[in-house]
Amino acid sequence: MSTAGEDVSRETTKPVIGVRRLKEPMPSPIKTRIFTVANQKGGVGKTTSAVNIAAALAMGGLKVLVIDLDPQGNACTALGVDRDGEGMYEVFVEDAPLASIVHKVAGFPSLECAPANQELAGAEISMVNMVARESILKLALGDYLKEREARGDRLDYIIIDCPPSLGLLTVNALTAAEEVLVPIQCEYYSLEGISLLVSTLGKIQRALNPLVHISTILLTMFDSRTRLANDVANDVRAHFPRELIDIPIPRAVRISEAPSFRQTVMTYDASSPGAVAYMQVAREIALRGSTPHGSNETGAITA
Ligand SMILES: Nc1ncnc2c1ncn2[C@@H]1O[C@H](COP(=O)(O)OP(=O)(O)OP(=O)(O)O)[C@@H](O)[C@H]1O
Ligand SMILES: [Mg+2]
Repeated sequence: MSTAGEDVSRETTKPVIGVRRLKEPMPSPIKTRIFTVANQKGGVGKTTSAVNIAAALAMGGLKVLVIDLDPQGNACTALGVDRDGEGMYEVFVEDAPLASIVHKVAGFPSLECAPANQELAGAEISMVNMVARESILKLALGDYLKEREARGDRLDYIIIDCPPSLGLLTVNALTAAEEVLVPIQCEYYSLEGISLLVSTLGKIQRALNPLVHISTILLTMFDSRTRLANDVANDVRAHFPRELIDIPIPRAVRISEAPSFRQTVMTYDASSPGAVAYMQVAREIALRGSTPHGSNETGAITA
């Protein structure tokens, strides 16, 4: 496991309220990397990981968009983004362009968010009879990325936060992304949940998106003092040796406090152990993305 200690600089030339830029910027990927953060199990740290990794990448100087696909809207809360106006519901159901609903995240120069507005809760039902209903997000993102590229404003990362289900919103996210990031809480039954995700992913690979694969696995709310956490970590490492990021996110009070202040832990307490771990994870993701590391074996784990 890696040790703590990150290069958060205090020598920012142009200070931005709440955000300290890193002394050493993170490498930009060759093309926009699209991550779906998915695990149908609830409360495993999907949203926490999505927003904190996104914030850390943005602090590393990269251009990042978070798409909140969970009608609970927790990613919006953590980023302090308003959910009362138009949002992902209009993109899915009314064919609104993504550009019309993307907000800048206050305090970050290069972090944006497409909000899950209140109406998104009804989107899956409204989409049932739509043509190509699994590919709505993929098409919307394709247009958006082309338009940004044309104005010389390419995004480095898109991070999609999913609800705790494998319904139509998650299927849209898995169809739109190439990479899947799976947060795993080190508990009994954690791996059983992953096998269901892997089999769903297999179907999506065959029918809709041959490129999608689990590229990244993250251990969340990790308590190294418990034997169970270490046993689960060893199991995950055995099944996903290349995908696992060997920097576990510790269970940390500051991480869970941050959303109640409408902040990520990266701004709420940048030197706390949770923020340091997320910063290291983000850097590792950025470094892995700067050198292609082959495909993976998403079928490595059996039910
Ligand atoms: N490392 C951590 N230490 C302490 N608390 C954490 C940590 N990570 C997440 N939490 C807390 O655990 C709860 C669940 O986390 P989170 O909302 O990120 O999970 P989720 O998988 O997105 O949940 P859902 O399935 O409902 O969308 C939240 O209250 C969050 O603040
Ligand atoms: Mg969530």
